[in-house]
Amino acid sequence: MNHLDPQKLPRHVAIIMDGNGRWAKQRNLPRIAGHQRGAKVIDSTVEAARECGIQYLTLYAFSVENWNRPKVEIKALMGLLETYLKNNFAKLLEEKIRLKVIGRYRELPKHIQELLQKTEEATAEFDSFTLCLALNYGARTEIVDAVRKLAKDASEGTLEVQDLNYEMLQTYLYTDGIPDPDLMIRTSGESRLSNFLLLQSAYSEIIFCSELWPDFGSESFKNALAEYASRERRYGKTTEQIVSSASDA
Ligand code: FPP
Repeated sequence: MNHLDPQKLPRHVAIIMDGNGRWAKQRNLPRIAGHQRGAKVIDSTVEAARECGIQYLTLYAFSVENWNRPKVEIKALMGLLETYLKNNFAKLLEEKIRLKVIGRYRELPKHIQELLQKTEEATAEFDSFTLCLALNYGARTEIVDAVRKLAKDASEGTLEVQDLNYEMLQTYLYTDGIPDPDLMIRTSGESRLSNFLLLQSAYSEIIFCSELWPDFGSESFKNALAEYASRERRYGKTTEQIVSSASDA
């Protein structure tokens, strides 16, 4: 897969990185070995995304439901996140990658919050590529948080409820300022969204691929982009309308 038409590239790709545990199990390794390998795949995926001209890459790294995992696994995942942030701080600056976190990150361990805040602040001005990490993220919690803020603004008179529309609602989401994902990918053969970006994915193209996340290489990423390019996004319109507006442009 060598050539990708820039006109048909997604601006924002969001990925549910699934299958680390199964990858480890297949090799009789502890689950954490799968997560370690999965963390490495993040680097190659970021590289592939930048090389292809993607502007936003969102990775589902830890969900609100993941707190229900064994304590030892949670600790290992937090350790991997810490290592990732420490090892990549200089690289993010050098490569002008903006880091953005979505999720209730105030509930993450204090030292992780500090690292995230430091990295977000240091990279805030970069605008060509955003790496967005979903941490302690859940779409339902995001909507609850948005509704709470919205209700507060309404009661304080800074929001007129009858003026509310989806564009305004978007500004209350964690993803404020980030375009909706054009393409969502889930690895490992599972076909569900697992509480990930449920509002933002209303019109996303979704690709479920069979590779486990630790096996997901830049080739798999580019194949997903090629499949995305072959799809017709109609947003409720007809094929004829889409074709005629493309020929008018
Ligand atoms: C899902 O696989 C994966 C996760 C819950 C965590 C994803 C974490 C990483 C890729 C590495 C650490 C992240 C960073 C940002 C450094 P699973 O464990 O549910 O796999 P399974 O379904 O096969 O058990």
